[in-house]
Amino acid sequence: MSVSSVIRATGSYLPDKVLTNADLEKIVDTSDDWIVQRTGIHERHIAAEGQPTSGLAIHAAQNALTASGLKPEEIDGVIVATTTPDESFPSVAVKVQAALGMKPGPAFDVQAVCSGFIYALSVADAMIKSGAMNRIMVIGAEKMSSLLDWNDRTTCVLFGDGAGAVILEKSENAENGILSTHLYADGKLNDLLHTSGGVSTTGTAGHIVMHGKEVFKNAVNLMADIVEEVLTKNKITPDKIDWLVPHQANLRIITGTAEKLDMDMGRVVVTVDKHGNTSAASIPLALDTAVRDGRIQRGQLLLLEALGGGLTWGAALIRF
Ligand code: ACO
Repeated sequence: MSVSSVIRATGSYLPDKVLTNADLEKIVDTSDDWIVQRTGIHERHIAAEGQPTSGLAIHAAQNALTASGLKPEEIDGVIVATTTPDESFPSVAVKVQAALGMKPGPAFDVQAVCSGFIYALSVADAMIKSGAMNRIMVIGAEKMSSLLDWNDRTTCVLFGDGAGAVILEKSENAENGILSTHLYADGKLNDLLHTSGGVSTTGTAGHIVMHGKEVFKNAVNLMADIVEEVLTKNKITPDKIDWLVPHQANLRIITGTAEKLDMDMGRVVVTVDKHGNTSAASIPLALDTAVRDGRIQRGQLLLLEALGGGLTWGAALIRF
C-alpha cells in the first residue's frame, strides 16, 4: 500500500521586538520609500539579546504541538532547517527535542539557507515514506539578525527573525499530503550569497554578503523553471493551485512568480511586508499565518517554493 506524509498541524513564533523601516532610517542611510519600493518590507521582528534560534524554534514547535493535540512522546523525530544555529554544535533540533520532552529518536539540522525548509520537508517526507518514522516535527528557525552587518544598508534592511513548524505524519491516503518535492543546488553560484566568515575559516560567524541583482535574476528565472517542473510532473495546470506559499524574500520576486503562474495575488500568501526575509523560517511562518487566519483550508492544493544561498532552490506540492 502506498503511503503519504500529511501536515497534521502547523505552528509559528515571532519575537516581540518589531523593527520598522523608520527605525532603520536611524541606523543606516536608507528610507522607508526605498525599502518598500524595492522589497515590499515594512517591518520585521528581531530576537531579543540572549534569545537564541532554539528559543524561537521551541515556541513554534510548542504551538504546532498544541494545534495537533498530540503529546511530545508521539513525535518520532525533529528536523530543523537553520543557517543560524545557537552554537556550531549541537544541533538546534536536539535542543527542541529536549525542551519538548520528546523520547529519544532522530534529531538533526539541515542547512540550505532560504531553501532549508523545503529541503527539511523533503527529507522528512522521504523518511516517513521509507517507514523510518511515522511523525516528524519539521521546523524552519532563524536568527538572521545575528548574521547582519548593521552598517551595511544593502543587507540589514532585508532580514528578520522567527520560526515556523509543521508536524508531518504518515497517512494511508496517497492522494493527500506531500505530492512531490523538487530540490536543486548549483554550487558554482555560491559566491552570490554567502557569509564573510565561518567556523573553519575565520572562526567567526561572519556577515551576509549578497550580490542582490544577480540573486534577484536567478530567483525569478529558477522559480519560473521549478514551478513549471512541478506542474508537469503532477500533470496539473496552474488554475488547480489554491495557494502559492513562496519564500518571502522580496515582493517583486513573489509577484513575478505569481504572474508566471497567472495567479492573482489573492491566491498568494504574502508575509514579507511584516516579517522581512526570515530565510528557512519564512515558508512555515507564512503557512501557519494563512492556516490560522482561515485562508488555507483542508483539501486545498498548495505550492511552496524557495531560493537561497548556495544557490539552492526547491519546491513542494502539497494537498493540505
Ligand atoms: N536604502 C537606500 N539605498 C540603498 C539601499 C538601502 N537600504 N540598499 C542599496 N541602496 C542603493 C545602492 O547603493 C544603489 O545605489 P547606487 O545606484 O548609487 O549605487 C541603489 O540603491 C540600487 O541598488 P541595487 O542593489 O541595484 O538595488 P536593487 O534594485 O537590485 O534592489 C535588492 C536590491 C532589494 C537587494 C534586490 O536586488 C533583491 O531583492 N535581490 C534578491 C534578494 C533575495 O532574493 N535574496 C533571497 C535569498 S536570501 C538568502 O538566501 C539568505
